[in-house]
Amino acid sequence: MARSGKVTVVGAGFYGSTTAQRLAEYDIFDEVVLTDIVEGKPEGLALDISQSRPIEGFETKVTGQTTGPNGEGYEAIAGSGIVVITAGLPRKPGMSRMDLIGVNAKIVRSVTEQVVKHAPDAVLIVVSNPLDEMTALAAKVSQFPNNRVIGQAGMLDTARFSYFVAERLGVGVGAVTTLTLGSHGDTMVPVPSACRVDGKPLADLLSAEEIDGLVERVRNGGAEIVGLLKTGSAYYAPSAAAARMARAVALDTGEIRPVCTWVDGQYGISGVYLGVEAEIGGSGIRRVVERDLTGTELDGLRAAAEAVRAKQSDVASL
Ligand code: LAC
Repeated sequence: MARSGKVTVVGAGFYGSTTAQRLAEYDIFDEVVLTDIVEGKPEGLALDISQSRPIEGFETKVTGQTTGPNGEGYEAIAGSGIVVITAGLPRKPGMSRMDLIGVNAKIVRSVTEQVVKHAPDAVLIVVSNPLDEMTALAAKVSQFPNNRVIGQAGMLDTARFSYFVAERLGVGVGAVTTLTLGSHGDTMVPVPSACRVDGKPLADLLSAEEIDGLVERVRNGGAEIVGLLKTGSAYYAPSAAAARMARAVALDTGEIRPVCTWVDGQYGISGVYLGVEAEIGGSGIRRVVERDLTGTELDGLRAAAEAVRAKQSDVASL
């Protein structure tokens, strides 16, 4: 396959570096750039990933670049068609994603300012937490059209849901389709009515109590891993989701995925970044895709919209 384009991952923590590795291993980009403020870390990781090329057999060039407090080094991202923003602190055990809002807002704001300066045509994929608020902030600061600023959360939450269902029923994950909408937080809205196992409704296979139990585990999916790791948060599944979103943009696939995007009228909700299904293509989000929801699911989605709306208006001043 022909390789083309440049993609940048800002933040060389576990989430960022694993995302960079996945993007490089797709072997569809000319170049993957990994940046971080920790001197030498992105260069070292890029060198390490590059040395895996002869083994894994990919030709994508991987570049690491330390960036300074005044934007030094950001020239390296020039010409990027996609920028994945992973910068920010992860949670510690007992913290909610919302506890990170003050510190991560400052980081995401300054990263976004540099991205706008050096890669003004990029599609932004935000993964920093709290996700819905950081995505809204990146959109405000960048002033990019809303379709070019997307947050990653729904793919991750949905993948967790599918995995839990597959594990519970003892089937392969490929047999399972699930869905989560809403926020990447307390107002996450798992959508049991959209869940199928080998084409059968989940409700035919599990009791309502069992489904509720799985839904609760999905809502706490990130915290469960933070609690086990004790330091840092999940990154294998999160990076898989972020990298797949970048791939969908790079290859203009038109695939429909749950993502955090600008909602303007769908489901009777307007003017907020929220987790919904959307078609992803070369320009970012092509369109939001609405589906039939049960009354409870729709109420949950509307409640999520109001919860994140309140926070998203605060975040602009942080
Ligand atoms: C999680 C973090 C990355 O859900 O938000 O694991």
